Amino acid sequence: MKKDTLKKVRITDTTLRDAHQSLWATRMRTDDILGIAEKIDAAGYYSLECWGGATFDVCMRFLRENPWERLRQIKAVCKNTPLQMLLRGQNILGYKHYPDDIVERFVALACENGMDIFRVFDALNDPRNLEKAIASVKKYGGHAQGTICYTTSPVHTVENYVKLAKEQEAMGIDSLAIKDMAGILTPGAARELVGALVKALPEMPIQIHSHMTSGMAAAMYLAAVEAGAGCVDCAISTMSSFSSQPPCESIVTILESEGYDTGLDQAKLAEINAYFKELKAKRQPASTAKVEPVDAGVLVHAIPGGMISNLRSQLAQQDALDRLPEVLAELPKTRADMGYPPLVTPTSQIVGVQSVLNVLSGKRYSMVTDETKRYSAGYYGRTPAPIEKKLAKKLQGGLKPITCRPADLLKPGLADAAREIPPKLIQAEEDILSYCLFPEVALGYFKWRAQPEGAKDPIPADVEMQKTEAAGTTAPAPDAETAKFAQIGRAFAALMAACGGTKVDLSAVKLGEAAPSPLQAGGSDKSVASPKKEEAPTGTPVLAPLNGTFYRSSGPGKPELAADGASVKAGDAVCIVEAMKLFNPIKATASGKITFVAKHGAAVAKGETIAVIAG
Ligand code: CO
Repeated sequence: MKKDTLKKVRITDTTLRDAHQSLWATRMRTDDILGIAEKIDAAGYYSLECWGGATFDVCMRFLRENPWERLRQIKAVCKNTPLQMLLRGQNILGYKHYPDDIVERFVALACENGMDIFRVFDALNDPRNLEKAIASVKKYGGHAQGTICYTTSPVHTVENYVKLAKEQEAMGIDSLAIKDMAGILTPGAARELVGALVKALPEMPIQIHSHMTSGMAAAMYLAAVEAGAGCVDCAISTMSSFSSQPPCESIVTILESEGYDTGLDQAKLAEINAYFKELKAKRQPASTAKVEPVDAGVLVHAIPGGMISNLRSQLAQQDALDRLPEVLAELPKTRADMGYPPLVTPTSQIVGVQSVLNVLSGKRYSMVTDETKRYSAGYYGRTPAPIEKKLAKKLQGGLKPITCRPADLLKPGLADAAREIPPKLIQAEEDILSYCLFPEVALGYFKWRAQPEGAKDPIPADVEMQKTEAAGTTAPAPDAETAKFAQIGRAFAALMAACGGTKVDLSAVKLGEAAPSPLQAGGSDKSVASPKKEEAPTGTPVLAPLNGTFYRSSGPGKPELAADGASVKAGDAVCIVEAMKLFNPIKATASGKITFVAKHGAAVAKGETIAVIAG
């Protein structure tokens, strides 16, 4: 077959973003990228995904690099291939909604510094969470790629996906991505979905993004291309497979065998791969060498492996690892109750933790996290299916539900953020945006940067590597999940503070901290105090429902929920037990005078008496 008669299919290279985020805990340095950028640029890819996702946070937190500078440096070399980033809609790169002024300015600066294609998505597929980001990309001259986050449920039908795509088409998107973050899209479903999209939106270029987690993505890509998708996401082979994208070289050959031309040259790909093969020895955390190549469990229960390991560690903290099968059975039920959200951060954590609580508490929804409350009240966006009325009321726990676009409730934030940073630490406007997204991380980086040359503190990622080498361990490097959890903690703390109208003191927020690195000696210090009972007062006990930390108030600087000796009513929230990075309000078990037994800030064990109520 002659080349010019072939149908064209393009490939986006994810090696510089998703692939090393999925396999190397996002530890690639800018110098690593610059060592090969010219060759990647000359290979003939459709675009290079090289920014966004966890790269921004990790750059500052672990690598002590300026992510904006990374973008400028890549752009200076890659003059032929468009650069692409992943943008989480109104959440930008984090897990809470940011005000519109921050979204717009972030996009403007990204465009100015060289970003071309913005893949804009929302975990709930709520178009209202996409509209500001898409409008901003269009305003500043970028290519706005809309996104459908793929999941399965009775409401995630082809018809509904087509409706979502049309809503995004009306917002002016230039192309559409199907984002199969869990690797659960089968070839058959892809053929049907892409076919329907091509029919309904004949002019819309369609791109497919998937992960090899369950082993299906390569077969699915071929089916999607046959149905009309024009571009697929791949990583160079050394950086592919496992939880990363399908291998580029293999997909090129598969597609060519079926009469498609990718415009990529295997000899050039081989050179690029050789570079990453060498780099792997230096940058791949030793722990990931143990990962199974295929997580077949996903095919059975559609729960991504990363989520199961989170559930496992949450249960381990509660000495309840044996309850994992019950939690795995509960999870789909909780997800259904909550309107079938796609299981992607942050909804994966909200549904996951709520499922754990539903099992451990012994009575479903007797304990509801504040995140579940806000989720069910509409603060994350519209749930894919409505939550049943009576249950919704219960989950909201008195929180007023909203029906507006969540970001409409936010006041502009840029000016305040600019005032919060010590002026001597700001070098450029982009620093204010970095601070808006990751306040403590950015300040930590700015302070490091301000140290005199030659007298700077060591780079955290270097320290990590030396420790691993010295100990010869395979302890995992703190990964994107850790950063995600920290983000959720912070977002949660901010929400709590916003509810109480108090200023957030992030430095004092315990639950927002990144989990201790397993590389640090005693990193998992979790000494649970043995229950002390010195002449306990008599009455109805209030027991800790979980292992955790006991608090009298619901946040730093906030008043006690109930004063010692106060009269309380049965069902009143009287104190907090923080567990699994979430604050769980504890209710009075009876009406009467309450006497607290546990001390504010103390570790408590499940079943321990934390207060007594005398009736
Ligand atoms: Co991905």
